[in-house]
Amino acid sequence: MSLNFTILYGSVREARAGIRLARFIEKTVLQRGHAATLVDAAERRLPLLDKMYKEYEPGTAPAILQELAQLYRESDGFIVVSGEYNHGIPPALKNLLDHFLEEYFFRPSAIVCYSAGQFGGVRAAMQLRMTLAELGMSSIPSLLPVPHIGSALTPEGNPNEPRLAAITARFFDELEWYASALQHARNAGTPY
Ligand SMILES: Cc1cc2nc3c(=O)[nH]c(=O)nc-3n(C[C@H](O)[C@H](O)[C@H](O)COP(=O)(O)O)c2cc1C
Repeated sequence: MSLNFTILYGSVREARAGIRLARFIEKTVLQRGHAATLVDAAERRLPLLDKMYKEYEPGTAPAILQELAQLYRESDGFIVVSGEYNHGIPPALKNLLDHFLEEYFFRPSAIVCYSAGQFGGVRAAMQLRMTLAELGMSSIPSLLPVPHIGSALTPEGNPNEPRLAAITARFFDELEWYASALQHARNAGTPY
């Protein structure tokens, strides 16, 4: 069954390395027969949060917020690609996430984390998991951590080592199960 995934990536640094991983995830979603939209915070520059999308009168939100709200409502799941800045998540990623709330509800999320070092961004991932639960898109149990992000993938987003392909397949098997299950459940109705 084809599902619709949104990939959220929130590093806006000029020298960012995580975009390679975001591209790899986008390609993987497409290869598995699903639809993928990469929301790159560097391309879709949101201002530092002033008003959330829902605080605007209907039809008056800036076009970029209306576009993202529509995209999120049509999504079956979110894949959040997060680096680790001082053991937390990148500020542009948090800013991107915080503009919305209800649009995420009743959909699963999955965390793909990375860092320059050997721990693959898992400390940031643990904080991200709490935020995603509060946003109504609880994360699946598995993480996809990628250490040594500088050498793990080519600039086009192709893995330099076979390990990544193997753990990615299992991660996506799990995400697809949750996304499909919650799609059926949403179609049957939500509590609010
Ligand atoms: C402000 C800042 C803080 C960082 N803190 C950590 C950290 O706590 N742990 C870690 O493993 N790497 C840390 N790094 C290194 C990042 O893992 C590495 O630069 C990575 O490429 C950042 O993702 P990006 O290139 O997509 O922005 C930090 C990098 C920056 C810029």
